[in-house]
Amino acid sequence: MYKAVLFDAYGTVLDVDSAASRLAQSGQFPSLQAKWPELSALWRSKQLSYSWLRSLSQHFVPFWQITCESLDYALEALDLDSPEMREALLDLYRQLDIYPEVDQLLQIIAQAGIPAAILSNGNYQMLQDAFTNAGVIHRFDKLLSVEDVGIFKPAPQVYQLGCDSYNARPEEILFASSNGWDAAAASAFGYTTFWANRSHMPVEKLPDAPQYIGHDLSELIPLISST
Ligand code: LAC
Repeated sequence: MYKAVLFDAYGTVLDVDSAASRLAQSGQFPSLQAKWPELSALWRSKQLSYSWLRSLSQHFVPFWQITCESLDYALEALDLDSPEMREALLDLYRQLDIYPEVDQLLQIIAQAGIPAAILSNGNYQMLQDAFTNAGVIHRFDKLLSVEDVGIFKPAPQVYQLGCDSYNARPEEILFASSNGWDAAAASAFGYTTFWANRSHMPVEKLPDAPQYIGHDLSELIPLISST
């Protein structure tokens, strides 16, 4: 029996592409129609790079600031420099879609009597906003944020937060992430890990690998049911 099931937030529970895709669909900004997939991908990859670079250079700031700065970079790189579009995208980032399998999975975890929590780079305010707007905040026992340790994933201090919060040994935590590098680092830390490989990517060539791999979070259900 796991002491807790921890979820990465962005890309795992929250669909980070939904901000740009919803704004493109709204028709408000015609220039987004063709460019939104590229914008969304660049925004996300810069957001992650900036988190790693700021950890290495010891210039930690809340993840929301990084989210704004990476969007600014992506908009400029793609010649989409509009203050209105920027505000609209950031607004939608506070109300990202959740993946369709999440609600049922959280119900099953609750029925099994295991606490579910978020373990994310996101600062508390942005996590609170996103999960409140998605209507699932009440299903999480806790939101755990890197804000408490002042360094981003994959620093081991971040994964230690889960052990400290649930008085658990690393292997007693079941951790799910759609980010292959996050699942790998959590395995190296000692968590029991599930990688939701939503984009059908190869296993990351990093020091450790996820124990379980599925296409989305629904494949986590058998791991809960078997405990
Ligand atoms: C997070 C990023 C890594 O939520 O997706 O921590």
